[in-house]
Order: sequence, then C-alpha cells, then structure tokens
Amino acid sequence: MSTRTPIVGGNWKMNTTAETGVALARAVAAGSGGVACEVVVYPPFPYLATVGATLAGSDVQLGAQDLYHEPNGAFTGEVSVEMLRDVGVTVVLAGHSERRHVIGETDDLVNRKVRAALAGDLMVTLCLGETLEQREAGRTTDVVLGQLRHGLAGVAEAAMGRVVLAYEPVWAIGTGVTATPDDAETAHRAIRGALADLYNPQVAAATRIQYGGSVKPGNAAALAAGPNVDGFLVGGASLVPDDFLAITRMATAPDPAADRQPEARNA
Ligand code: PGA
Repeated sequence: MSTRTPIVGGNWKMNTTAETGVALARAVAAGSGGVACEVVVYPPFPYLATVGATLAGSDVQLGAQDLYHEPNGAFTGEVSVEMLRDVGVTVVLAGHSERRHVIGETDDLVNRKVRAALAGDLMVTLCLGETLEQREAGRTTDVVLGQLRHGLAGVAEAAMGRVVLAYEPVWAIGTGVTATPDDAETAHRAIRGALADLYNPQVAAATRIQYGGSVKPGNAAALAAGPNVDGFLVGGASLVPDDFLAITRMATAPDPAADRQPEARNA
C-alpha cells in the first residue's frame, strides 16, 4: 500500500440510457461518501451534463471517455477540451485500448490528446496495455513502455501531477480473465521505473498507476495489495453500483491476507 491516494474510475463505455445513467450516478454519489480514494465516473458524451448535475455536491468527479485535440473547427463528431470543461468534466481518458484497437488510434494521436487535455487544465488518464499476442511474444514491457514514452512525449514535469496512468492488458478487458496480482504489480513496477528515467524519482513516486481489466469485488483487494497499484479503471463492474462501490473500498483497504492468492485469476 502506497502513500499515493488511489483513484478508481468507472468507465461506462457505450452503456446506459439517460435514465439508468442518472440512477447509477446517484447510487455512486450516495455510496462513495467517506471513501479514502478519488472516484471518477465516465458516462457516454450525451449524458455528461445530466450525470454532472446528478453528481453536484458529491466528491465524485465527472470524466469523459475521449476527447479531440483540436480546439474547434471542421471535425465532425468530435468533442473538444473546451466543450468537456463547459459541462463540468475534470478528467478524461486517452488511449483506451478500445480506442486504439477498435477505432484505430495511433500513439501519435493519443499523445496529441494527452497534451491537449493538459493544456486545457484537465486531468488525463493515459491507458497502456499489451495484446495477448504481444504478451505471448514476450513483448509486454516493450509495448507498454513504448506507449508510455509516446503518450507522454512533450509533457513537462510540471504537468505530471495531472497525469494518471492506467495499465490495462487488452486480453483482460471485458473477458473475465484478470491479470494476477503478480502480473499487475510487475507491469506497474516497470512503468514506475520508466517514469523515473523519463522524469525523475519524485515524479515516479507520485504518479498514480491504476490497474484495469475485469476488476471485480472478488479480485480487487488482492490486486490492490500490490505496492505499485494505485486504484482501478473498471468497466463492466462499474455498471453495478454495489460492485463498483465495493471496489472503491477495496482500493484503499487491501486485505494483506488476500495478497497473491492464485484464485485471483478469473475471479
Ligand atoms: P472491464 O473494462 O472492467 O470490463 O474489463 C475495463 C476497461 O476497459 O477500462
């Protein structure tokens, strides 16, 4: 357990309606009072304003799942930092694996988005993760650290306080297969080591690194016991308020006895 304040995000992806999104936000706001981590929800774009109004007065932050790096203009379908700020967004995802692998975003585009978010005073969560083929080819560290270096190119040390990283192995996202606590901790340790090289040991020690990929109440405590694991980015389980809230509590209070139990895989 580190001294960094863990951060837990609920990435709703392309799910919910206006009505179910508001109900979900209301339940998260009501249930997360007093948790010792930061909590963010990432609703779909059309519901940001309504969900933001629902969260008003709570500590839950409003996040966006994506952004476009240009300030305005002829970019049909895209959403700028200014627009996100207008509706109360404080944090944005960049480089989620579904954006990289389903939509086809490149490292260069992800980097532009990271820099645009930071220039617009948003907090940004840069997502990193290898595919199964890359892992099986022994390329996990190369791929993840390559995404890290590209994603942070041109990002000044002074802005790093507003950067959160999320390690999300692609093979664990939405599959029910979770990285073991050892898999997660090994990747997080490598990322932190690379931050020390790219910046300095202070930045490395201060930057939060979330784990994502089939996080559930049944595996969150064991994963959170890793000293370099600073919270979670949660997809499927974030749509179930009780599960998401349980995960926020586990992010801050890992049960040492749960550390490195083999049943964490596929839990
Ligand atoms: P999952 O998604 O929890 O459904 O695996 C995680 C994510 O994509 O952020």
